[in-house]
Amino acid sequence: MRKKIVAGNWKMNLNYEEAKLLLNTLINSAKSGNTNAEIIVCPPAIYLAAFSDILKSQSAVKLGAQNCFHQDSGAYTGEISPSQLKSLGVNYCIIGHSERREQFNESYDLLAKKAKALLKHQIQPIFCCGEQLEVRSNNVYKEFIMKQIEDSLFTLKAEEIAQVIIAYEPIWAIGTGKTATAVQAQEVHGLIRARIAKQFGDKTAADINLIYGGSCKSDNAKELFSQTDIDGGLIGGASLDAAEFSHISNSF
Ligand code: 13P
Repeated sequence: MRKKIVAGNWKMNLNYEEAKLLLNTLINSAKSGNTNAEIIVCPPAIYLAAFSDILKSQSAVKLGAQNCFHQDSGAYTGEISPSQLKSLGVNYCIIGHSERREQFNESYDLLAKKAKALLKHQIQPIFCCGEQLEVRSNNVYKEFIMKQIEDSLFTLKAEEIAQVIIAYEPIWAIGTGKTATAVQAQEVHGLIRARIAKQFGDKTAADINLIYGGSCKSDNAKELFSQTDIDGGLIGGASLDAAEFSHISNSF
């Protein structure tokens, strides 16, 4: 049985007091809500240690990072390792977000290393993929997305890739208010699951979590999450509003 997942990617938003307030509000609504989804918050890295302390005494909200490096330790100024994340009780880590691919030139090879490094420390990677508008307009998005997944994740073993959460985030839908339709999102999610089945077998494909991101809000989450191959969402802007995020979490 796959999990249902709603993860909030706060990106580089909120000062510390604002972030703590939002976290505490989310914990309270997650405790009183009736969602059966795994609720994950991915705050800026600088807040992870404090959040880890706050989250220790409950299980309604889980902690995720927005990025990591692939080495365990060493002379990598400014970077954060999976083993350091693990020492804080971080359960998830986003890798390969389009903002990092585009602005920090993250390559398929680097993301393969990050995925392996996280899995070594039992942290579940939330691996992002998705095409630019031009790629969709040229009708080559299927090949584009499959290459992103194949080149970064297909050197994993079946039991390893089963622990990866793949987030399909079409770049033209991120922060634009132009969400993919449920039909468009389901098409890609279905193709990803079929490709995983071909490479790793039916059981792995049935177990792997595929989530959608890109202008996912309370008014479209229900329709998106009801699609056969969509197991939840990776939420940007709407995750900064506690009521909106809770509404999305209750959309299954
Ligand atoms: P928005 O929900 O703001 O479109 O962002 C999606 C996203 O990038 C999540 O990682």
